[in-house]
Amino acid sequence: MKFRKFLAAGAGAALAFSLAACSGGGAGSTSDSSASGDDGAMMEEGGTIGVAMPTQTSSRWIADGDAVKSGLEDQGFDVDLQYAADDIPTQSQQIDNMITNGVKALIIAAIDGTALSSQLQAAADAGIPVISYDRLIRDSENVDFYVTFDNYNVGVQQATSLLVGLGILEADGTTETGEEGPFNVELFAGSLDDNNAHFFWAGAIDTLQPYIDSGVLVVPSGQTDIEQAATLRWQQETAQKRMEDLLTGNYVGTDEKVNGVLSPYDGLSRGIITALQNNGYSGTVEDGFPVVTGQDAEVESVKLIVDGVQYATIFKDTRKLAEQAVVAATAYLNGEEPEANDTETYDNGVKVVPSYLLESDIVYADNVQELLIDSGYWTQEQVDKGVA
Ligand code: BGC
Repeated sequence: MKFRKFLAAGAGAALAFSLAACSGGGAGSTSDSSASGDDGAMMEEGGTIGVAMPTQTSSRWIADGDAVKSGLEDQGFDVDLQYAADDIPTQSQQIDNMITNGVKALIIAAIDGTALSSQLQAAADAGIPVISYDRLIRDSENVDFYVTFDNYNVGVQQATSLLVGLGILEADGTTETGEEGPFNVELFAGSLDDNNAHFFWAGAIDTLQPYIDSGVLVVPSGQTDIEQAATLRWQQETAQKRMEDLLTGNYVGTDEKVNGVLSPYDGLSRGIITALQNNGYSGTVEDGFPVVTGQDAEVESVKLIVDGVQYATIFKDTRKLAEQAVVAATAYLNGEEPEANDTETYDNGVKVVPSYLLESDIVYADNVQELLIDSGYWTQEQVDKGVA
C-alpha cells in the first residue's frame, strides 16, 4: 500500500517499471522490518534512500548527485546524499552510517570498486537493496543492480574522436581518409581501482591498436600498458605531471612533437592541456595544438572545445543515468526486479550483475549546440563562461 502513491506520482513515460503488481511493502527491501531511521511523514510514506557519491571536485558527480536526489524526492523519498572527497574510509563510513540509520535502499558510486564488501554484507543482512551507480562494485555478491553507460563503447568513442581529430578518419568516425601519418600520440587511462577505467581503456586500445601496428600512430614514450598510463583517483594534477614528464623525457630537445593525446576524462584533459601549454604548445587544434580527447562534457571543457583547444569529449547524460537509478530503487521498494537490458557484460568477480546500460555521444565543437545546449544540459551562458 505504502508505495502506491509514489508509483502513481511517478507513472510518467520515464518510469519503465510496471505498475501492475503494486501490492504492498517491497520484497526486495526490508519493508516493515526494523529499519526505523528518521521520523516524520515522509519516512512513513517512502523512507530514506542513501546516495553515496565519490567527489565534488568534478562537476559531473555534482550533477549526478543533484539529479538522483531530486528524482528520488519526486517519488516521495527522503534522500541522504553524501560526497566522500575521493577518500575511501570516508565513503565506507558514510555507507555504514546510512545502513545504521535504516535507509531503504543504497545507490553507490564507489571510489574504490573493491573496498566496500563489508558494507555491502551489512546492507544485505539488513535486506537493503544496493544499486551500483555508474561504477561497478566488485568482489561482492551483494550488488543487486548496476546502472551505467556502455563503457567499452565510451572508450571506442574516445579513440574515434582522436582518429577524427588527427584526420585518420572522416567526421563520420568510420571512413578512413587514407592519411598515414605518422602521428605521435600519448595515452592516458583512469584510476585502476575504478572498473570503468579498464572498459574505457579496452575500447580505446582495441580501436587504436591497428593504427599503432601499422605505424600510422606512434607512441614515443612506449607507455602503452594501462598500468603505465593510469591516473590514480582520476586527478588532474597527476595527469598534468605525467604529461610534463612525458614531454621532458621524450620530446623536449628533439624534433618530435605531440600530435594527439588519448584522455579518458575532461579533468585529466585540462591537466594535459596545461602541461602542453607550459611546454610551448599554443593556439587551437586548427593551428596545430595537439588533439586531446575527454569524457563527461564538463562545462570547463565544453568551453575549451568551443574555443578549439580541447578537441572532443564524450557526453554521458547524467540526467538519464539518475533516472534509471531512481527507476531501479523504486522497483525494489515495490517488490519488483528492475528491468535490465544487459545481463552479460558486467561480471564483478563474483557474479554478473544485471545492468541497465545507456548510450553516449561524441561531442565536437560543431555539435555542442545540439547535444548540450538544445537538450538543456548546459546553458549558452554557462558554456560561454565555462562555469556551471
Ligand atoms: C566515470 C567517468 C568519470 C570518471 C572520473 C568514471 O567512473 O564513468 O564518467 O570521468 O569516473 O570521475
